[in-house]
Amino acid sequence: MTDHAPVPTLPTDTVTLSGGARMPLLGFGTWQITGEEAVHATAAALAAGYRHLDTATVYGNEQEVGRALADSGVARDEVFLTTKCPPDLAGQELETLRRSLDALQTDRVDLWLIHWPGEGSVNARMWEAFVEARRQGLTREIGVSNFDAALIDEVADATGVRPAVNQVEWSPLLFDSATVAAHRDRGVALEGYSALRGGTLEDPTIGGIAQRLGRTPAQVIIRWHLQHGVVVIPKSVHADRIRSNADVAGFELTSDDMAAIDALGQG
Ligand SMILES: NC(=O)c1ccc[n+]([C@@H]2O[C@H](COP(=O)([O-])OP(=O)(O)OC[C@H]3O[C@@H](n4cnc5c(N)ncnc54)[C@H](OP(=O)(O)O)[C@@H]3O)[C@@H](O)[C@H]2O)c1
Repeated sequence: MTDHAPVPTLPTDTVTLSGGARMPLLGFGTWQITGEEAVHATAAALAAGYRHLDTATVYGNEQEVGRALADSGVARDEVFLTTKCPPDLAGQELETLRRSLDALQTDRVDLWLIHWPGEGSVNARMWEAFVEARRQGLTREIGVSNFDAALIDEVADATGVRPAVNQVEWSPLLFDSATVAAHRDRGVALEGYSALRGGTLEDPTIGGIAQRLGRTPAQVIIRWHLQHGVVVIPKSVHADRIRSNADVAGFELTSDDMAAIDALGQG
C-alpha cells in the first residue's frame, strides 16, 4: 500500500456549512474497508493529501480510521471528520457518539449524521439529541443522510434547526436538478456517495470526455461533483486509485461537458 509515488495536487474547494465549518468538497469514503486494510487505506488517503474522512458507526472501522489519523502526523484540526449514527440506536445517541469519539481518538467530530431515516417520530427525536450533541461541543455540525426534502423539513420544523448536510447517493446517472435546487433553497449542503458505482465508470459519454482530457472516468466524475459544489467522497483500497481520484485540481470540465454529464441523469 505505501510507496513513493508523487503526491497529487488536491482541490482546495470547500463548502461553508450552516454552522460555519468549512467542509472540503473532496473526502475519502471508508465503507466496506475494515481491519488493517482500513488503517492502510486511511493512511494512504492522508498521505495523498485528503483532509476529509467519512466513516460511520455501522462501518465497524472507526477505531482503524482513528488509528491511521493519529499515526499520520497530520494535525487533527486539519482534517474534516464525519461519522454517523444509525436510527436503530435512537435513544442512545449521545452514548453512541461518545463511543465514536473514543474510537476516533478525538474530542469532537466535524460532522455527525443520522445515517438513514427511522420510522415516524424517530427522526425528530434523534434530531433533538443531535442538536444537544452540538450544544455540548461533541460535533461542530450536524446533518442527515438518505433524507428527502420532506424529511429534512420535518426535523427542521420540529426543532428549529436545519441539517447542515444531507449525504445521499449521487452520481452523473442520478443527477437531478430538482434535488440540487431543493437543497440549495434550504441552505443544506449536498454530499454525494457511491459516485463511482452503478455503471458511471463505464458510461460512454464520461469515457469520451475522459479520453479527450487525458483523464480517467473516475477523475471526470469527481471533477463534475466539484464544479457543481457537491461534496464527493470516493472510496478505494488501492493507493494508486486513492491518489489518482484526488488528482483533479489540474483540469476543468467545460460547460458543454457539464451539461452532457448532467443530461445522463435526466434521461
Ligand atoms: N450514507 C450512506 O448511506 C452511504 C452509503 C454508501 C456509501 N457511503 C459513503 O460514501 C463513500 C463512497 O461510496 P462507495 O463506498 O459506495 O464507493 P465509490 O466511491 O462509489 O467507489 C466504488 C468502487 O469503485 C472502485 N474505485 C475507486 N476508485 C476507482 C478508480 N479510480 N477506478 C476504478 N474503480 C475505482 C472502488 O474499489 P477498490 O476499493 O477496489 O478500488 C470502490 O469500491 C463510502 O465509502 C462511504 O464513506 C455512504
